[in-house]
Amino acid sequence: MAALIALNVNGLAVQVSVAPSTPLLLVLRNDLGLNGPKYGCGLAECGACAVLVGDTAVRSCTVPVGAITGRPVTTLEGLGTPQHPHPVQAAFIANNAAQCGYCINGMIVAAVALLRSNSSPDETAIRTALRHHLCRCGTHLEILAAVREAALATSKVAVANVEEAAS
Ligand code: FES
Repeated sequence: MAALIALNVNGLAVQVSVAPSTPLLLVLRNDLGLNGPKYGCGLAECGACAVLVGDTAVRSCTVPVGAITGRPVTTLEGLGTPQHPHPVQAAFIANNAAQCGYCINGMIVAAVALLRSNSSPDETAIRTALRHHLCRCGTHLEILAAVREAALATSKVAVANVEEAAS
């Protein structure tokens, strides 16, 4: 049975009238018109549907929307704009990290979550964060290069912030 559910998506308070068991992915795409997160497997296995809930990347295809209330959701659209992309989005563009592009939403969301928890990840940490995101085109090398570049930029910003705080 449908219920009125309040959400915070990309910084905006919204309400949707859906069954609480509806997967978050369907609400984002069908009710809110946010098509960054993709439907791939529907089984929490491919990563195409990833969004941030707080700072954690979650697979929105298997998360009931009723379980999200009160926690901020950020989709690919909420990370940056075409004019001002998030550093991870900018690095993916600079490194031509998309071929068909279907997995890129999940790759970027996973990379953002990684950099929020670890501003200077090593190669192992990057590969671990992305290991359950499937790409069938074969742009893995470009994707890894993009995340390395974004990590370097994030790390430099973190160092500059520490130096500024210390001065
Ligand atoms: Fe959600 Fe594949 S569509 S993990």
